[in-house]
Amino acid sequence: MPRPAWQENFSVNVRVLDEQHKRFFEILGNLYDSKGRINDTLFLGDRVWELSMYAGAHFDTEELMLSEYSFSGYEEHKKEHELFKEKIAGFRSDLEMGQTTSLTLDMIDFLTGWLEHHILNVDQQYSLFLNGKGIR
Ligand SMILES: [Fe+2]
Ligand SMILES: [Fe+2]
Repeated sequence: MPRPAWQENFSVNVRVLDEQHKRFFEILGNLYDSKGRINDTLFLGDRVWELSMYAGAHFDTEELMLSEYSFSGYEEHKKEHELFKEKIAGFRSDLEMGQTTSLTLDMIDFLTGWLEHHILNVDQQYSLFLNGKGIR
């Protein structure tokens, strides 16, 4: 699998959200660069923590913008964010139970797939909507 990276076609045309998505890919890239550290629970714990904090902050930003402008797909969008948080909580409990053998690779796999799907299919749905409200 190539190193995951933000690409121009991921742009949602809203600066602050693009910056946050790029930061997401940086965290993912760091994880990818360290995928050999499968038994380093301290390191993995830090990455899981970093991800959940960052995801929470980013989701809050998006959800706030979407609810403020009464975006029709708000509930559905929020639901995807909730499922992501549940998945990260699952990674955290795997870590707490010492099941780290495939954790890094599972996380990289899941995050890359989720981010690509979510940004390209779900986040893109609000792009024109927010632009129409004058947000860029
Ligand atoms: Fe989103
Ligand atoms: Fe997003």
